[in-house]
Amino acid sequence: MKIIDKIDSSIDELSEKLLEGELIVIPTETVYGLAANALNSDAVSKIFKVKGRPQDNPLIIHTFSKEKIFEYTINQPEYLDKLIDKFLPGPLTLVLEKHHLIPDIVSAELKSVGIRIPNKKVTLDLLKKVKVPLAAPSANKSGRPSPTKIQHVIDDYSIDNQEIYACVDGGDCDVGIESTIIKCEKDKIVILRPGLISIEDLKKVIDIEIEEYKGNENLSPGIKYKHYSPDIPISISDKYISDKNVLNLYFSDINLNADNLKKISENNLYDIYREAEKFKYKSINIILTEDLKQRKGLFNRILKSIDT
Ligand code: TXA
Ligand code: MG
Repeated sequence: MKIIDKIDSSIDELSEKLLEGELIVIPTETVYGLAANALNSDAVSKIFKVKGRPQDNPLIIHTFSKEKIFEYTINQPEYLDKLIDKFLPGPLTLVLEKHHLIPDIVSAELKSVGIRIPNKKVTLDLLKKVKVPLAAPSANKSGRPSPTKIQHVIDDYSIDNQEIYACVDGGDCDVGIESTIIKCEKDKIVILRPGLISIEDLKKVIDIEIEEYKGNENLSPGIKYKHYSPDIPISISDKYISDKNVLNLYFSDINLNADNLKKISENNLYDIYREAEKFKYKSINIILTEDLKQRKGLFNRILKSIDT
């Protein structure tokens, strides 16, 4: 796996390699993604193999313009234009009916496809150069916390990995948790995965019914799998645990100074999980407060990382 830190001089090479069916790790504003040419089923199948991803868990595709979103999907609802104009490029994935151009392996045989425009210049440049859409799940090994730094990718796959051609260094991811996923039906939107873009944000832009996240496995096959978890146990409680083997994480301000206490937000949760492994903590204690519950995306990732 080559590390690319100057995309300008490598963009032709990366684009050629993607068209030849190679895998490349791309930075996005949310998390790093493991990308392949979405129009090439063989290339897409490598993603499932390298990540250890179950075949029934669909991938989202990444593109660079509104026109392309309309090209890869069909029967778009009327409100779609407004959503795209307001939120994309950005951390929002639209689940729409799939055009037959997109192979079934991408959507795990579903009739719909998740699509978004990432808000990261180097990746947008690559998408424009390569022209084809890129299928990309988060670039972690299946079940692990998503990578928000290039080092996380190297830790999961090792620099000697021969199955991934290159990893594009885009620095740390600003958002730090994965995109909000919404299913765009004709008269209704359903939140399939909460994220930084909230129901309230969506409601400000369009006047349509929006169904809260309910964790419905039939709508989003990925939900049933364990996610985002470090190799140490995580639990939730209402107070600080004063044991040096336990790393305490909190969201609200608390009046306490201790080495084994860290403040979390969307953009450092996964890094802190990975750091906890490196520093060999025996467990992680999340101090639950009302305002953490209200951070829907962050709280969802915490709950999912505990589920077994
Ligand atoms: O921020 C993100 O969304 C990152 C970056 C790389 O773009 N990607 C990401 O992909 O988080 P992944 O594969 O780790 O998570 C995508 C989720 C999965 O839970 C999958 O089940 C769901 O999206 N999904 C994909 N296509 C779907 C579809 N057609 N219908 C319902 N759920 C879908
Ligand atoms: Mg993922």
